[in-house]
Amino acid sequence: MRDKIVAGNWKMHKTLEEGKILASEVVNIVTDEVNSDAKVILGTPFVHLDSVSKLIKDSANVFIAAQNCSEHEQGAYTGEISAAMLASMGVDYVILGHSERREYFNESNEQLAAKVDKVYEHGMIPIFCCGEALDIREAGTEVDFVCQQLTESIFHLSNEQFEKIVIAYEPIWAIGTGRTASSEQAQEMHDAIRKHLASKYGQEIADKVSILYGGSCKPSNAKEIFAGKDVDGGLIGGASLVARDFVDIVKSF
Ligand code: G3P
Repeated sequence: MRDKIVAGNWKMHKTLEEGKILASEVVNIVTDEVNSDAKVILGTPFVHLDSVSKLIKDSANVFIAAQNCSEHEQGAYTGEISAAMLASMGVDYVILGHSERREYFNESNEQLAAKVDKVYEHGMIPIFCCGEALDIREAGTEVDFVCQQLTESIFHLSNEQFEKIVIAYEPIWAIGTGRTASSEQAQEMHDAIRKHLASKYGQEIADKVSILYGGSCKPSNAKEIFAGKDVDGGLIGGASLVARDFVDIVKSF
């Protein structure tokens, strides 16, 4: 059976002290209240990774993710962070291909394929983001668009690599808008994604891959969204910045 996962994406929020407080609150509430085997992932800005990874090291079901990494091993890339650096801090996962990075930093599917390779090379697991803009949804071509993102960025992976990957479907029109995809829309796309994975890697491997939903997922709607048979959890933005809300989403399974 595949992992149930709720991953927080703090995006560009929280000073060093604020991040320590938030991470401590999440760990304490998870420890006290979460009885499921759901995996909890904190996707923090780079500045928090070292301190938060130390904070969660004794928590069996809490993990840490970076929000990006370079596709280069090392070198004259001012401002960049390498996969080797992340691994040296005990990072478990790396969020790649978030729509905000694709938009603001022009990340291509080809560039993301190289980033995915670096993450595996250094013993970490990608949380690979995909999702369509509103105009594509309104044109009815969202499935083809999302499948192309997956084909061009992760379909070069070996079977052994692929069965470990985490995929996050995040319709861009639902991110930060309060306009959540309906549970039917989420399940429909997750079903299409899993079928696409199976077309390349076979059903047994496709069934091992956790597919998360992201886009205005809140404590009020998480239970309904997570009820989808191909929805294995969520990638949470705004609601991950409040420990109580984030853990209430974790408890929604
Ligand atoms: O990566 C998760 C994020 O894009 C979703 O943001 O604020 O709509 O939960 P939000």
